[in-house]
Amino acid sequence: MRIRRRRDADIEAVVAALATVTAADGYPGYPPRDPAAWLSRPDVLQSWVAERAGELVGHVCLRDSPGHPAAAMWCARTGVAPGACVVLARLFVVPAARGTGLGTDLVGVACAEGAQLGRHPVLDVADNGHAAIRLYERLGWVRLGSYTQPHEHRPAEYLHCFAAPPRTTDRVV
Ligand SMILES: CC(C)(COP(=O)(O)OP(=O)(O)OC[C@H]1O[C@@H](n2cnc3c(N)ncnc32)[C@H](O)[C@@H]1OP(=O)(O)O)[C@@H](O)C(=O)NCCC(=O)NCCS
Repeated sequence: MRIRRRRDADIEAVVAALATVTAADGYPGYPPRDPAAWLSRPDVLQSWVAERAGELVGHVCLRDSPGHPAAAMWCARTGVAPGACVVLARLFVVPAARGTGLGTDLVGVACAEGAQLGRHPVLDVADNGHAAIRLYERLGWVRLGSYTQPHEHRPAEYLHCFAAPPRTTDRVV
């Protein structure tokens, strides 16, 4: 297994891996019409892929999204400015590669970059993302609160917000 920065040429393989995850887990709750664009929104700061024997098996990215509900909750709790957060997103590992620490390592790589940027990682996760919620809680992420995301012509989603474990330099928790 190795984790490296995502390259433009990876997108097709990332989209294929995401399709496997969507079929297995229903993630994301509402699959995007254009998965490549969904993975490459303009606010993506950095993204990584995990490879096993040359096959792309996992992905995560960091997004610059100061208006994200999780960022708003972290800022309300700590008093930091919204720009002090960074959103960890698009985390997935294909079913065949799970349970060996890859998800944990992808989160670790993204958090290390967040620390280098001087920004605190936050995220949201769907109510049915049980494996992901277990992962974040096992890693000490702080549950911030929950919110409902309305959608036109389809049921709303219920999401839970988390922040990475506070560092000793953080003011309030
Ligand atoms: C969430 C997700 C990324 C986790 O990926 P993963 O690679 O299986 O994660 P890990 O291997 O680090 O941890 C998974 C489990 O394996 C266990 N594990 C990790 N390394 C292990 C090892 N070497 N030996 C035995 N067990 C191990 C962990 O303790 C954990 O157990 P738990 O589920 O009982 O808590 C994956 O399940 C996924 O892609 N889910 C669908 C997409 C999704 O929901 N994404 C989240 C969006 S917010």
